[in-house]
Amino acid sequence: MIPLSGEYYVECNEVFRRSTNQAEHMLAEMSPIAKGRSDLSILSVGSGAGLFEIPMLQMLEGEIKRFVGVDVNEHACRVLRAKLHGEFGASFDFEVVNRSFQDYRTDRRFEIVLFNHTFEYLDGDRLSWIQKSRELLAEAGNVLIFSPNRGGINKFYEEVFAPCFSDDLEQLLTLTDIDHSTTTIDAECDVTLLAGQDDDPELIRLLSFLTQADCRELSSTRRREFVDYYLSLSKAETLMIPHPATLFVL
Ligand SMILES: C[S@@+](CC[C@H](N)C(=O)[O-])C[C@H]1O[C@@H](n2cnc3c(N)ncnc32)[C@H](O)[C@@H]1O
Repeated sequence: MIPLSGEYYVECNEVFRRSTNQAEHMLAEMSPIAKGRSDLSILSVGSGAGLFEIPMLQMLEGEIKRFVGVDVNEHACRVLRAKLHGEFGASFDFEVVNRSFQDYRTDRRFEIVLFNHTFEYLDGDRLSWIQKSRELLAEAGNVLIFSPNRGGINKFYEEVFAPCFSDDLEQLLTLTDIDHSTTTIDAECDVTLLAGQDDDPELIRLLSFLTQADCRELSSTRRREFVDYYLSLSKAETLMIPHPATLFVL
């Protein structure tokens, strides 16, 4: 299966974000951690088109002093820069760097280094990415990692791409004695779109983000198999399916 990338990734992410209430839960968890810091600066690794980052910055308006986003997707970086300008104006101190986290270098230090569903995409030595994030922290700063849980909504993502799930991360942090706390995010995703016409482009975008594969390339039989699986996860009478994640605070 072909992994999502470029503009189509951003389109699919937008449909997915409109379908899930995970961001609201994540903001509620993040608020007490981020607020009240005197010189709040945030590095968002994998900032994408800012579907989470823009509401996060709105929540922190008046407190946030500097924001840096890093992402490998050039289109997403362009979209995020435009949104940041439009939303917060020229006086807001921000930078969006089109680079992989692995290649990102800076002398700046941050109060928060945030991985919002990004850590699982990083290939190479996971422990070294944790160490690198901690080196980028200001004194008393925190690394926050929102990480997907195994199984359920992530079953096909797991089968096809075998990314790092929250249980893998928990194991890594425990084995290496890295101090951390965890919180489960009990969100839900509305899959009503999947009950529509098989060839609806919005259905295919949602399916693509759920599987992390470009489902435009698949046969209708294979797509139907995915759709039936996700619909089977929905609770009686609703088309909401569990969309859990784990927040790690280091
Ligand atoms: C699930 S999206 C999250 C986007 C954004 N944080 C949001 O919530 O809207 C993950 C992002 O990680 C980016 N990404 C993947 N691998 C990366 C890497 N090695 N370094 C930096 N960003 C990466 C992808 O391009 C994508 O935009």
